[in-house]
Amino acid sequence: MLVVFGYPFVIAALSASFAWGAPAPAPWPPKTGATWPDTPFTVSGRDIISASGAKVVYAGVNWPGAADTMLPEGLQYASIDSIASFISKLGMNVVRLTYAIEMIDDHFANSPHQSLRNTLVKALGSKAGNTVLSQILANNPQFNVSSTRLDVFDAVAAGLAQYQIYVHLDNHVSKAQWCCNNNDGNAWFGDTYFSVQKWHRGLGFMAAHAASWQGFASMSLRNELRQPDSDSPASPYTWNTWIKNALPAASVIHKHNPSPLIFFSGEGYNTDDTYAIQRQTWNHKTFTPEKYAFRNKVVYEIHNYQTKAKSCSNDIQPRLYHTAYCAMNLSDSSCPNHGPVIMTEFGFDQTDSSDQSVYAQCISSTLLQQPGGPGGWMQWVLAGSYYIRSGIKDYDETWGLLNHDWSDFRNRSVIDDYLRPFVAATLKPTVAKNSSNDFG
Ligand SMILES: *[C@@H]1O[C@H](CO)[C@@H](O)[C@H](O)[C@H]1NC(C)=O
Ligand SMILES: *[C@@H]1O[C@H](CO)[C@@H](O)[C@H](O)[C@H]1NC(C)=O
Ligand SMILES: *[C@@H]1O[C@H](CO)[C@@H](O)[C@H](O)[C@H]1NC(C)=O
Ligand SMILES: *[C@@H]1O[C@H](CO)[C@@H](O)[C@H](O)[C@H]1NC(C)=O
Repeated sequence: MLVVFGYPFVIAALSASFAWGAPAPAPWPPKTGATWPDTPFTVSGRDIISASGAKVVYAGVNWPGAADTMLPEGLQYASIDSIASFISKLGMNVVRLTYAIEMIDDHFANSPHQSLRNTLVKALGSKAGNTVLSQILANNPQFNVSSTRLDVFDAVAAGLAQYQIYVHLDNHVSKAQWCCNNNDGNAWFGDTYFSVQKWHRGLGFMAAHAASWQGFASMSLRNELRQPDSDSPASPYTWNTWIKNALPAASVIHKHNPSPLIFFSGEGYNTDDTYAIQRQTWNHKTFTPEKYAFRNKVVYEIHNYQTKAKSCSNDIQPRLYHTAYCAMNLSDSSCPNHGPVIMTEFGFDQTDSSDQSVYAQCISSTLLQQPGGPGGWMQWVLAGSYYIRSGIKDYDETWGLLNHDWSDFRNRSVIDDYLRPFVAATLKPTVAKNSSNDFG
């Protein structure tokens, strides 16, 4: 049942609880001899474990690539290597790289829109499209006008691997556009653009395709599932519909590539994993990871944007615990589906002192204070600007860690006072503490 290499399990613990992993702390730092990437990763109890048996914690950032052009952002301003070097300077070890299912639909249709020139002209118009094209080619001369979007994704993954940064692939949307609304057609299974069949095909394709990326470690099912303005009777916004669609999707991924971890998110814009972690039953359907072929790959993801919160302990922490982090408390039987929890999105404006807000401080302290150590996180967002967002070309992103032209960090105070310490504390060895301090 458990396939984890070189990891000392306390077998007795297996039969004693629902947890299908043992709560024993994993060795840290990685055993000598383990070379990056040290994948595939597996899940044991509330931890992610590398191929050589070391505990893995993620600290990273979102690099969007799912909007209108379906290209990873920023390449008109900087080379992939330069962008990857900024991420590396932060000490981060993972990028959540987002993509649209439409990119894979175009691949299967052999669409002419896949080329760099055509996708830019389609998304930005002829004039701006060709300008951005020439800027991308000037900064990234390994590409040509006929390079495809997938060529660009491949190059981004390779560029990140140069800095030993893992790739977590995130299916952000079906139709490529800025995300997310209740009425954008991407909200829920069967929504206007959300064909379940194409989604499954896209997940399977990307799982197989990314197998050639050295640092490919994990992938999500879908970003921010949410109630569409009008959910259809055939696909109501219920937990039953989630299970019906999520399980086959995870199986498709696992069949095409058994290596990556699979991130599960619940409902409400990925702010609520309650049903999953509590193993709730709806119409006789229950999420029971230990029964699935991908049983040792299940990770829970959560987003949080309570940016206006007044109190960490009243407004944010109870909610995070109830909807997600309970899964990391192996001694809490109210959430029997235990596993690692990773906050794949949180973020704030870099220019208005938001780093000192209750929200930003609460996110970092809460994640770090998880008994047994943090699961991991990815901040929204790396991008200092977008090719186009909601119809506005060259959109300035004040939440971006990088500045508008991706030439430096946007605000060095935030980087030095908030982000660097958060990364360092997240990735520092966590199991040197007495194990009695850990759950279980
Ligand atoms: C254009 O670049 C892609 C990789 O991005 C490569 O596969 C292709 O051979 C190149 N085409 C030409 C004409 O150089
Ligand atoms: C973990 O769960 C136990 C049992 O419900 C509870 O007593 C403890 O307070 C929880 N720990 C945290 C940090 O929430
Ligand atoms: C940078 O962040 C600091 C700390 O929050 C803030 O005081 C300052 O105004 C910000 N500077 C700029 C230029 O955005
Ligand atoms: C670890 O355990 C030892 C011996 O029981 C104790 O003296 C020490 O204070 C503990 N350290 C922490 C960080 O709890």
